[in-house]
Amino acid sequence: MDKDVKPSIKVSKNGPYIAKNVKTLRNSKGVFIETKPVMTLCRCGGSSNMPFCDGTHAKNGFSGENEKDRVPAGVETYVGKDISIHRNKNVCCHVGHCVRNLPSVFKKGKDPWADPDAVDPEEIAKLIRSCPSGALSYTINGELHKDYSHDPEIFILKDGPYNVTGIELDDPDGSEPETHDHYSLCRCGASRNKPFCDGSHSDVEFKDEKN
Ligand code: FES
Repeated sequence: MDKDVKPSIKVSKNGPYIAKNVKTLRNSKGVFIETKPVMTLCRCGGSSNMPFCDGTHAKNGFSGENEKDRVPAGVETYVGKDISIHRNKNVCCHVGHCVRNLPSVFKKGKDPWADPDAVDPEEIAKLIRSCPSGALSYTINGELHKDYSHDPEIFILKDGPYNVTGIELDDPDGSEPETHDHYSLCRCGASRNKPFCDGSHSDVEFKDEKN
């Protein structure tokens, strides 16, 4: 794709995400939001014009810095007979697809956390492919599966992150998603692992609609 029209998201220091050539922006109700060739998307959680930046980040003390006590990066592997499951907790957005939909495989609070032999490997692979943050990936027959060539889209999860597919991320501070074609970006401003969502929106009770 021509570099000038390729969709991209740039992380600006202590400010919004700058999305270029993104044509599909959808909210949690499935409603398509009108896009522009260049859009600034709020990541401080304070805008009164969500999802767009309205300059509030300059007044509310927002910092794009990471916290030292964030979950460390690193991939754990759970080896099974026909499939191995990989998890990088560092970029998990804790939306819970895995533990909710395949609880016999993904065991919240248990050690080991995953049992790759509990169900058909294809079922596990299908579930992992729906993990929005890219924290999960898998290996079958010696082949690692982590990027799935999605159509470019930013999906705004209700009271949660931007779930991004098929769009290149450019963070001048060097952060890279675990999976380059899908990842979850913090929208509430509270992640300890910016620019990625780490589930902190639940802790701070981030709401799209303020009471
Ligand atoms: S990042 Fe600008 S208002 Fe939130």
